[in-house]
Amino acid sequence: MNFLEEIARRRTFGIISHPDAGKTTLTEKLLLFGGAIQEAGAVKNNKIKKSATSDFMEIEKQRGISVATSVLAFNYKGIKINILDTPGHKDFAEDTFRTLTAVDSVIVVVDVAKGVEMQTEKLVEVCRMRKIPIIVFINKLDREGKDGFDLLDEIEQKLKLKVVPLSFPIGMGYDFKGIYNIWDKKLNLFSGDAKQTVSEGVEFTNIDNPELDKIIGGKWANNLREELELIEEVYPKFDNEAYLNSELQPVFFGSALNNFGVKELLDCFVQIAPPPQPKMSSTRLVDSKEKKFTGFVFKIHANMDPKHRDRLAFVKIVSGIFKRNTNYLHVKMGKKMKFSSPNAFFAEKKEIVDESFPGDIVGLHDTGNFKIGDTLTEGEVLEFKGIPSFSPEHFRYVNNADPMKSKQLAKGLNQLMDEGVAQLFTLDINGRKVIGTVGALQFEVIQYRLEHEYGAKCSYENLNVHKACWVEPEDDNSYEFKEFKRVKQRYMAKDKKGQLVFLADSAFTIQMTQEKYKSVKLHFVSEFK
Ligand code: G4P
Repeated sequence: MNFLEEIARRRTFGIISHPDAGKTTLTEKLLLFGGAIQEAGAVKNNKIKKSATSDFMEIEKQRGISVATSVLAFNYKGIKINILDTPGHKDFAEDTFRTLTAVDSVIVVVDVAKGVEMQTEKLVEVCRMRKIPIIVFINKLDREGKDGFDLLDEIEQKLKLKVVPLSFPIGMGYDFKGIYNIWDKKLNLFSGDAKQTVSEGVEFTNIDNPELDKIIGGKWANNLREELELIEEVYPKFDNEAYLNSELQPVFFGSALNNFGVKELLDCFVQIAPPPQPKMSSTRLVDSKEKKFTGFVFKIHANMDPKHRDRLAFVKIVSGIFKRNTNYLHVKMGKKMKFSSPNAFFAEKKEIVDESFPGDIVGLHDTGNFKIGDTLTEGEVLEFKGIPSFSPEHFRYVNNADPMKSKQLAKGLNQLMDEGVAQLFTLDINGRKVIGTVGALQFEVIQYRLEHEYGAKCSYENLNVHKACWVEPEDDNSYEFKEFKRVKQRYMAKDKKGQLVFLADSAFTIQMTQEKYKSVKLHFVSEFK
């Protein structure tokens, strides 16, 4: 297979949902279709349960397992599918945002009974902003839930999407009869015990065929006919271009647990989802078909073994072929590096590979050279954009609790921040360090890891900060900007990249500040230009 064929057959995507909607179950069923795993339950072990809020030992365990499930790759109908795992736990939302910079499309799972939930809204908003193509899978049709049309409305309104149903359920819960696939005009009948078997649907091109009445009963047949008519009237026709441009989102119904509607989703996905896409860099747009290798780090995973402070940097290949034992430029460090044992991922295994193609993810062993967002090239000086930090939700001062170990603390904090566990801000006025996290859980994780991996101890002190605002003055030398910095000097800090940040104590302060200093813009994201 040549280079262009290798690119054309790759699909790299993420599954996102509110916890418990069925992301893990769906992932597992997709892997079963690819023959990549033998039994259900293999992916399940990777779940960070909701109960983890106080149980960070559990998280330590999960970190180990989740190296293996960070990327789940399998082949289906000649297509190489890479699923990038995104943690469902809200305290790890930042991880998910970063993973979204490495996907070419997403599948959003919605629970039929719960409808659109908060976490889904946030994640879909990020996808919309980045124009990532989205397919929606409405799950748990074997249970009682909301009416199909009501759900489509809810998805349009809350997620601000333009939906096109490509399948539609017949009944629901106790009365769930099956699904009519508008996409390939097939009828799939549901029987609850067919859990792991894959049944081909009955071809039913003409919905007026009286056979339908015999199969599902006259009442359901008529119902379905009316609903399909309504769909034709109300929703636009599916258009692949519009989906790829993120202007239209196909919706499928099914039950992941019962493996129902999953094959239909996958069959459509491999036909319509985009192959590796071009990516914007600091200097130009890089196309996947370019011969020279480029890639960027979107995730760093610390090793579980504290004796070897070895980390795995996950690199998404944007263009060219990544080759083992070849010199590449680490752009930020201006240093050439080569990798003797790059890992590729297949199902839940990782193995050393000689070559990887655009769309693929390679895991590179790292002793502290990589930060999230770093770019590797064959020599060209460019950096990929699009891995911003979002304002954390929780802030605390971090203090050294063991004066003999201040070096270890600094190193540990530095490396954990590189991994993206949390964000570190240094106050201008006194140099004190402030840690900002998305969830309260990370504070425990940091304390635990500093002690176990770096031999350092830290304590925290409360600090009243509502949001970190990245500051963009219209004019660096203006009187207004100088005045702003003088008046707010107690709240001014630098982030890890040295960017100026205003740590605002309330939403009201932000509003007042913006009104008073009109030429100073405040952003909740670190990348705003
Ligand atoms: P998540 O990764 O999005 O958090 O969700 P996960 O797949 O773990 O699913 C959450 C719960 O919903 C699981 O039950 C799972 O079995 C169930 N589930 C997933 N798909 C379906 C479906 O199509 N129908 C029904 N009825 N249930 C579904 P659990 O009891 O929390 O976990 P477990 O005890 O089964 O492991």
